[in-house]
Amino acid sequence: MRKKIVAGNWKMNLLDEEVINFIVDFNSKKNSIESEAEIIILPASIYLDTMISMPDWDIKIGAQNCSQFNNGAYTGEISAAMLRDFDYDSENLHYCLVGHSERRAYFNETNFICADKVNRLLENKLKPIYCCGEELKDRESENHFSLVQAQIEEGLFHLSEDELKQVVIAYEPVWAIGTGVTASSEQAQEMHLFIRTLLDKRYGDEVANSISILYGGSCKPDNARELFNQTDIDGGLIGGASLKVDSFIQIINSF
Ligand code: PGA
Repeated sequence: MRKKIVAGNWKMNLLDEEVINFIVDFNSKKNSIESEAEIIILPASIYLDTMISMPDWDIKIGAQNCSQFNNGAYTGEISAAMLRDFDYDSENLHYCLVGHSERRAYFNETNFICADKVNRLLENKLKPIYCCGEELKDRESENHFSLVQAQIEEGLFHLSEDELKQVVIAYEPVWAIGTGVTASSEQAQEMHLFIRTLLDKRYGDEVANSISILYGGSCKPDNARELFNQTDIDGGLIGGASLKVDSFIQIINSF
């Protein structure tokens, strides 16, 4: 059985007090969660500590980014070792996003930089949530499959079988992120199956069938159930709708 996952990518939103309010509100509504999906929240790095320090907080936590380098003169960067180090005792921090389309577009992250980040995270016992997805122009020119194939192969296929099993993949068509336009469940399933077939050809079906592949891009309470019902969609990477407790919980309950 593949793990079902709902991850909230808060991006550069919510200040400390809002983070605390979210957690208090979420905890008070936790009893309404019916699904067994693993729940992850990815706040801005500066608030990871706030989250980790909250009492009665058993949701998994992740960072949104880390450096591709081990350490050294990289002003402003946070290394994977630092992420691991500051939560060494409680071990609540499990995940880190890699290659979100906003980082690829605004911070020039290539597949090869993403591959280095994946390596740094695995070396530090953190699980990468590796994002891939095409822009509208790629889909319109029917280049979307080969683009996603290159993202997967160049970012992940250097890994051993055991290493790959630590990775979660998120397919996020760029044209659907924050736009209100969702990929249809057929479009999403088609790409998820394509990705799983790539994994199967490279690593075999046991590995391919053990990797959770999440859908992201305007996933909301009113479309999550149909998306999560698809055979190869194992949950969601949720942006805007994860900033409000009620909509986030409704999505979590959509399996
Ligand atoms: P969205 O963002 O749900 O607001 O479209 C998803 C993401 O970028 O991870």
